[in-house]
Amino acid sequence: MSQKRVLTGITTTGIPHLGNYVGAIRPAIAESRASGEESFLFLADYHGIIKCHDPEQIHRSTLAVAATWLACGLDPETITFYRQSDIPEVPELTWIFNCVCAKGLMNRAHAYKASVDANLAEGNTDPDHGISMGLFSYPVLMAADILIFNATHIPVGRDQIQHVEMARDIAGRFNHRYRELFVLPEAVVDDEIALLTGLDGRKMSKSYGNTIALFEDEKALRKQIMKIVTNSQEPGEPKNPDESTIFEIYRSFSTRDEQAAMRDRYAAGIGWGDAKQALFEQINAELAEPRERYRELTANPARIEDILQAGAAKARKHTRPLLDAVRDAVGIRPLR
Ligand code: ADP
Ligand code: TRP
Repeated sequence: MSQKRVLTGITTTGIPHLGNYVGAIRPAIAESRASGEESFLFLADYHGIIKCHDPEQIHRSTLAVAATWLACGLDPETITFYRQSDIPEVPELTWIFNCVCAKGLMNRAHAYKASVDANLAEGNTDPDHGISMGLFSYPVLMAADILIFNATHIPVGRDQIQHVEMARDIAGRFNHRYRELFVLPEAVVDDEIALLTGLDGRKMSKSYGNTIALFEDEKALRKQIMKIVTNSQEPGEPKNPDESTIFEIYRSFSTRDEQAAMRDRYAAGIGWGDAKQALFEQINAELAEPRERYRELTANPARIEDILQAGAAKARKHTRPLLDAVRDAVGIRPLR
């Protein structure tokens, strides 16, 4: 039961950007190829509809996120790749967990508390203004995502650690109250992974609107790179690469030797236009091939749908038997 099993989810509310690629997609795919561990990756569309109420955006993002991971080399034979909403055992287990999880635990969730604080700061008389039950109990759904596979290792960003801890808590309570059915999962946070800077010098994030899209065409990529904010130093003036967003992004797409050579060009006074052009060429060289695969995939959504259905069938070989045991444990059984 304690075999290593890696699982993570991607919320389907946006179109992947370079930060997602460098911080999540590229390392996860490299890891899955190298380790041969059993791993699960899914499109968290039930999580998507908590904050995004635009059906077209959910639908478009589901296609874009699935195509992105496949284009970047996710092998659906190695990784069990599926869509959350294709696994009916997940919402079913969520309900059962709702009956196990203390409400007070959810009161402490950062995402919920942040929304309450924002309401209070705005002088709202109702601290729960605009907060849905979905947002409030988001960690219960996430616990079901994880525990229905008895996943052991959950690679997440720092903001998600608390949710994995809540999943442990829920697993512990269930095991104690009913039967030892769940393994306690652990969050895995990789501090080595670079945080990519966005166009304006802050962390690249869809919340700041400062992103560079991963798979727009070559012209659009170049145009976005040309928008990176720089200081007003002139060509010929020596520049400090460690204070430049352009170099910061360059580092995530180059070898050590290339970085050393680029540092020399900064010291020799490369103009910002040339530095951006060099960055564009570097990124484009890495992305040209996957971008072509992405175009082919998005032009053929039915193929992606088939891949996801095959993934769901594989996933349900795990989820169905465990949910049967859970139902039995809580006393939901056939009458005979
Ligand atoms: P966003 O901040 O754009 O909303 P998400 O929170 O959806 O991005 O992040 C999805 C994944 O991409 C997470 O694993 C997160 O750590 C990673 N990620 C997001 N932005 C960056 C960034 N600027 N640099 C590195 N990794 C990032
Ligand atoms: N909540 C996660 C995020 O916003 C996505 C997610 C949903 C997830 N279910 C999960 C991550 C289960 C890991 C395990 O990033």
